[in-house]
Amino acid sequence: MTRLQELGDRIDRREARIGVVGLGYVGLPLVVEFAKAGFRTTGFELDGEKVRQLKAGRSYIEDVSADDVKKFRASGHIDATTDFAELAEMDVINVCVPTPLTKTKDPDVSFIVRAVEDIKTRLRAGQLIILGSTTYPGTTHELFVPILEQSGLQVGTDFSVAFAPERIDPANKTFKVRNVPKVVGGETPLCTDLSVKVFEKIFDTVVPVSSSQSAEMVKLLENTFRAINIGLANEVALMCDKLGLDVWEVIDAAATKPYGYMKFQPGPGLGGHCIPVDPTYLSWKMKALNFTARFIELATEINGHMPDYVAEKCGHILNEERLPVNGSGILVLGVAYKPDVGDMRESPALDVIRLLQERGGRVSYHDPHVPELHLEGHGHHEAAVLKSVDLTDDALRSADLVVIITNHAEVDYDRVVRLAGRIYDTRNACAKVKEGREKIRKL
Ligand SMILES: NC(=O)c1ccc[n+]([C@@H]2O[C@H](COP(=O)([O-])OP(=O)(O)OC[C@H]3O[C@@H](n4cnc5c(N)ncnc54)[C@H](O)[C@@H]3O)[C@@H](O)[C@H]2O)c1
Repeated sequence: MTRLQELGDRIDRREARIGVVGLGYVGLPLVVEFAKAGFRTTGFELDGEKVRQLKAGRSYIEDVSADDVKKFRASGHIDATTDFAELAEMDVINVCVPTPLTKTKDPDVSFIVRAVEDIKTRLRAGQLIILGSTTYPGTTHELFVPILEQSGLQVGTDFSVAFAPERIDPANKTFKVRNVPKVVGGETPLCTDLSVKVFEKIFDTVVPVSSSQSAEMVKLLENTFRAINIGLANEVALMCDKLGLDVWEVIDAAATKPYGYMKFQPGPGLGGHCIPVDPTYLSWKMKALNFTARFIELATEINGHMPDYVAEKCGHILNEERLPVNGSGILVLGVAYKPDVGDMRESPALDVIRLLQERGGRVSYHDPHVPELHLEGHGHHEAAVLKSVDLTDDALRSADLVVIITNHAEVDYDRVVRLAGRIYDTRNACAKVKEGREKIRKL
């Protein structure tokens, strides 16, 4: 029996040691799921604070139960370390490091490169390495594997490699890690089989595809589909504005069609680590092949313009009250990129606040999930930290305009509308409010 076949048996007996590199929104839930399935799991992280929290049995991610971390830490199923030498002891290593864009909006795969370099120096025969970070088609085959093979070992015979895209949706109450099917594509059929074996222990359904490139493309198709359809919803919102129609009513009515239509909603712009970023990984790769990804470029342009449109609209609404943006008190309600999370990555609120500040607006914000907001320096504004203000009666009454950017569930929108003078609702958060609707302007 070869070392790789032996690994299959160790996985089935749940004796395989599982490593997870990068303990963020994706990595930490994965650690907990493997621990739940009975595997001894070790997280590898550069950020010593995250390691300290886990070692102390604490969770630092809203969706990950602190009780689970505590329980599996106590039972010895969860460990965490900044010492990458321990990678050598792992049988399966999942890589879940960030894949952002550079300042010039190109893919930044430097985190993947650093992680795989760290693995390479400890690589041994029989290991299975699975890349989960979203990236362009070809990363696993053309970048990841060649670095690992610098060790002198060969993929498919000495060690295995697969790409398995992550589909986690933070704050989703229905779809958790286990009940979202897991797609996986290996470098060889054996790499795929071993990955399926390991993922079957923590996912209800595993979907093998024929190659790592195909698995990489699956993820980009999913998120490009979302970005483009949100782009369409945003453009329809702009059209409805010109036509004097309520886009929310139009979309809700269209969504009653039982087939051939899928509901997407407009908003103040795209946010999060995935939807604004991932399509650019695909269009960048296609550019190198002399192909222009036109749908992606158009959606990126429309979605990227939404914060400007929202800031512009705030100016129009204040103007109707004979108020200039300059000097007006503008309270931004919700700044996280989506409801019920505290994640600020790529949040359109950052752009809206910056644009309003540039025009002299006195901007404050309230977000129950984001106590502090770090604004980068821009124009003649220096970098600054804003603190979430309490949503007091006075804060609502004294604002010249309340702009709802994120529709967090715990905010009492009836009260907001009752107390505020003017509301610009970019999320239809006030859909159910009955009294005072004349004060609301919708996207
Ligand atoms: N957050 C999501 O909802 C989501 C969903 C699907 C896919 N993804 C993808 O998953 C990947 C990870 O995203 P995330 O949201 O978990 O990111 P994150 O920023 O929350 O976590 C990444 C972690 O990796 C650590 N890290 C960076 N380089 C490292 C290295 N060389 N070694 C060890 N640790 C390292 C960071 O300190 C951080 O804690 C990205 O490619 C992302 O696009 C994210």
